[in-house]
Amino acid sequence: MSSKLAVVTGANRGLGQETARQLAALGYQVLSASRKGSDGLPPLDVEKPDQIKAFCTWVEKEFGRLEVLVNNAGIFLDATAGNFSPSTAFDVPAETVLRTFTINTLGAFQLCQGLIPLMRKNGYGRVVNVSSGMGQLSEMRQGWPAYRISKTSLNAVTRIFAGETSGSNILVNSICPGWVRTDMGGTDAERSIEQGVDTIVWAATLPDGGPTGGNFRDRKAIPW
Ligand SMILES: NC(=O)c1ccc[n+]([C@@H]2O[C@H](COP(=O)([O-])OP(=O)(O)OC[C@H]3O[C@@H](n4cnc5c(N)ncnc54)[C@H](OP(=O)(O)O)[C@@H]3O)[C@@H](O)[C@H]2O)c1
Repeated sequence: MSSKLAVVTGANRGLGQETARQLAALGYQVLSASRKGSDGLPPLDVEKPDQIKAFCTWVEKEFGRLEVLVNNAGIFLDATAGNFSPSTAFDVPAETVLRTFTINTLGAFQLCQGLIPLMRKNGYGRVVNVSSGMGQLSEMRQGWPAYRISKTSLNAVTRIFAGETSGSNILVNSICPGWVRTDMGGTDAERSIEQGVDTIVWAATLPDGGPTGGNFRDRKAIPW
């Protein structure tokens, strides 16, 4: 059988780039999607529904199948360039909440809509939604409302598509990479990019019969 085909969004830097590198090292054929597009791939700005549709159509035409989708692309507008002073629910503009939701949540939602049908063809799929502990309702508190709401909603996307694909060997999970030293996480973060990617790659390569509809950090289930 030819190597498994994986799409990674936001793969031009940070956790996405390292996820793509590690999956390629494991023998996967990786489509490293990015806003600029590269290596013959169409651009994929997950804020733009027309680009998402065009990208999914392109994957279907070029390959007619897909095994892995890593919804990694994301923004953290509440904390710009290493300034982690939290925006509060009283001062964050509604536009910031909407734009963050559009990219972090709806982008992943539309890619699941467009690409999971290609997984169904061969009865195999692994979907990893790169979420965050900041989206856990069990830990929810004040600060960074746009980002928190987008990641809680992304966890709902995970549950919904896990339900839709139940019993089909398509495993859909959320993961939290921890606080990682990327452009988003900043230099004070606790984890290296390799540490952050570990659970993403684990969830992308789960064996048949593995968990679905779960939320994981360090390969272990965590509360929603
Ligand atoms: N770092 C952490 O501590 C941490 C913790 C928890 C969760 N996460 C999550 O991990 C994921 C990756 O974050 P990171 O730390 O690697 O951040 P990063 O270094 O800032 O990288 C973000 C990536 O997302 C892409 N992106 C942003 N907006 C996009 C859009 N509209 N369309 C397509 N791509 C877009 C960026 O592309 P451009 O270069 O074009 O902007 C970049 O490739 C995010 O979902 C983030 O929420 C990170």
